[in-house]
Amino acid sequence: MTNKNLSLENLDEEFYQVTPEILESFPRFRLPLNLYIFKENVAQLEPYYRAEQRLTKEKREELFELSEEGLIFVARADHHIYAKHISKQLDLVLVDKNLKPSEIIEIFQIALTRRIHEFYEQPVRPTFEKLVSDISVLIEYLWEDQYRLKGLIKNLLTTYSLPNMAYNAGIIGIALFYDVQGKNLTKKHLTQIALGLFTYDLGLARLPKILLEKKQNLTPEEQNKINNHPLNGAKILRKLDITEAVTLQCHLEHHEYMDGSGYPRKLSGADISLSGAITALAHTFSEILTQNDPTPPTREILNKLSGMKNKYNPNLISSLSKIFIHDLMK
Ligand SMILES: [Fe+2]
Repeated sequence: MTNKNLSLENLDEEFYQVTPEILESFPRFRLPLNLYIFKENVAQLEPYYRAEQRLTKEKREELFELSEEGLIFVARADHHIYAKHISKQLDLVLVDKNLKPSEIIEIFQIALTRRIHEFYEQPVRPTFEKLVSDISVLIEYLWEDQYRLKGLIKNLLTTYSLPNMAYNAGIIGIALFYDVQGKNLTKKHLTQIALGLFTYDLGLARLPKILLEKKQNLTPEEQNKINNHPLNGAKILRKLDITEAVTLQCHLEHHEYMDGSGYPRKLSGADISLSGAITALAHTFSEILTQNDPTPPTREILNKLSGMKNKYNPNLISSLSKIFIHDLMK
């Protein structure tokens, strides 16, 4: 730990205050990061606790009293440790007023992709409930201030993996849903579609890796498995007692196209639901974003999608352009 003393002006830039609620969420007697104390007599921060050292009961009590008084800080340089910790108890994001928006975005990315990964690996009730709980925290965060979506939209993930794809589709899809539904949106409805968006390729994730990596010469049986993945994902959700159409359609219709050339049901035009159409567009946007090296600029992806009005709902394409171009330019 460096013996670094700082003036008040740059304190906020380099450190943030830790509340007793956050401290409570750390392991009881061994905290994962260094802590600093604000010395009022000299108006400076000084080292107080070294990461992973054993705290005595007395020292722990003193620490909580000091943090109650607002005197305990952590370094922003340790944000990665803090982010990893808080991402496992995501609701803390809603109470921690010292985090910057960019830090909160990183925490959501870590938390949601990990939860999606765990659910894709083992789609059972415990992993599902943890994912649902984290999605609810995100919706709560956005419900407090819709403009927070912009930060999330600006920082989509650019490396390919099924959980990253689902994360991107979740954020893009929520933004589209906000734009299309406007004031008619309810929190419950938004949470239901978010649940479908953040899990839409579950059926694909359940297929053997060897099949997913095989690009050509699929046997009819293998092709059939691929074609049925939207149905299989929805089937697993139904087993977990998800019955809302708006959630299930994200799975069932994310490969359906406006011109009827998609699968598995070859739906076309107005037969494709709003949540299905949103997921299809969000999926393709995310696919172009994550599967190209170098990552194409947003404008290039939007241009590409604008040329695919036979496949994707033209109103949603316009909406997507509005979200990325106009809103972000403000
Ligand atoms: Fe898929």
